[in-house]
Amino acid sequence: MIIKNDSRYGVADYSYKMAGELPGITKLVKDFYHTMNSLSEANIIRNMHPNDLSESEKKLTYFLSGWLGGPKLYAKHYGSINIPLSHKHLKVGIEETKAWLLCMKKSVDNQPYESDFKIYLMEQLSVPAERIRVVSSNQ
Ligand code: HEM
Repeated sequence: MIIKNDSRYGVADYSYKMAGELPGITKLVKDFYHTMNSLSEANIIRNMHPNDLSESEKKLTYFLSGWLGGPKLYAKHYGSINIPLSHKHLKVGIEETKAWLLCMKKSVDNQPYESDFKIYLMEQLSVPAERIRVVSSNQ
């Protein structure tokens, strides 16, 4: 059976609402960095981050808020951002991309989201993750 995604995902702030707005996204990102801290497969990307993850956590939360159609908090607090270029100083290959998406999948699975929204979200996140990898490999 083919499950068709809710076609409202990606329209206006619908995805932001489905993700639980700012409290839901904050929880997702907290779980994401907690997973990155505890999963041995994620050591490779944990080591790229600063020891104190609080700023990384805040930046990703703010970015996802706007990216999901909610308030553009990253732009408001830090200015504009181009995701692939903001990772250009890092070496992001297949292993690093897989590790990032694995941490995100585990965290998304932890959230009380509808199951087709979980699938949609992971599909959408894999697009910038792949762009980061391509930009990194072209250096
Ligand atoms: C493909 C695998 C990825 C890896 C290995 C990775 C790794 C990192 C690292 C190490 C940092 C901290 C950089 C620093 O402090 O110098 C960072 C920052 C950040 N990442 Fe990623 N990331 C990945 C994918 C993504 C994706 C897909 C998104 C968005 C959906 C994202 C959004 C961000 C944001 C918003 C920041 C803060 C950037 C800034 O303000 O400079 N990352 N990432």
